[in-house]
Amino acid sequence: MKAKTPHFTNMNRTLANILIDLIAALLFLGMIATGYLLRFPLPPGSNKSLSLWGYTRHQWGDIHFWISLGLLVVLVVHLMLHWNWIVTVIAKRCRLPKTAQPSLVRSGVLTAVVVILSMTLFAWSAQYSVKEITRPMRGKQLAHTRQLNESSATAQAYIDKENIKFWQDVYPIFETHCLFCHGPQRQLGGFRVDRKEDLFESRGHEPLVLPGQSAVSPLIAIVSGTKKDMPMADKHTLPEQDITRLKAWIDSGAQWPVKTDAGK
Ligand code: HEC
Repeated sequence: MKAKTPHFTNMNRTLANILIDLIAALLFLGMIATGYLLRFPLPPGSNKSLSLWGYTRHQWGDIHFWISLGLLVVLVVHLMLHWNWIVTVIAKRCRLPKTAQPSLVRSGVLTAVVVILSMTLFAWSAQYSVKEITRPMRGKQLAHTRQLNESSATAQAYIDKENIKFWQDVYPIFETHCLFCHGPQRQLGGFRVDRKEDLFESRGHEPLVLPGQSAVSPLIAIVSGTKKDMPMADKHTLPEQDITRLKAWIDSGAQWPVKTDAGK
């Protein structure tokens, strides 16, 4: 069967091709841009502590995903629009006998089936291969953080200053707000918040924590935003209730017991 009204169809095709390529290019740029955000300004582990233009790392990840899905759809459409040409070229290359015009619909459906099938297979295998990381500390720390968040509504009203427990009441604050820049992965300024000596020993300056003296402990100045010339000051200020908690911990002697399961 000959193409119907060839002139009109070709015009439409050309326009569609240009449009599709333009959309593909835009989506591709979108992928690069969001990928950049996920790699640099909002690196892994920053979901809880950073947001950019109102979105967290997770939300940017979602946007990245939907853009890439859009790009895939556009690429499939692009292939379909060029299908006749592709089949002709391949046939010529492989010196296949000339067949009748390949059906665009049949080829399109075939492509879609192959793509959807392989994506489903991939998604399925990924779904069933996700494993929980069995680091002994992890679950408990998460539980602590959750506990802290749940109780934070009442925390303002009541903090048991005498009975403040480091691993339960204090460390989760560090974990949530500091560990990402001052932990195992990065040690900005050479400082690690999960290393006792980094808080208690003078490392060329006053120790950050002076037990019993929250009013003059530099840690409190840093997290309440009163330390002068603090780099990235906004990343270092904590909510009022966390400051209160840290102060109470310092004033009660700043215990940092060896972590044992019994000590919780
Ligand atoms: C987004 C990253 C980030 C987070 C989160 C963060 N910091 Fe920092 N911190 C920095 C950077 C950057 C510096 C400066 C490093 C340098 O001087 O090279 C710094 C420096 C410091 C210093 C050295 C201060 C000085 O006098 O120079 C201390 C102490 C510190 N941070 C404590 C904390 C504490 C406590 C928290 C949690 C409440 C925290 N940081 C959260 C990025 C961060």
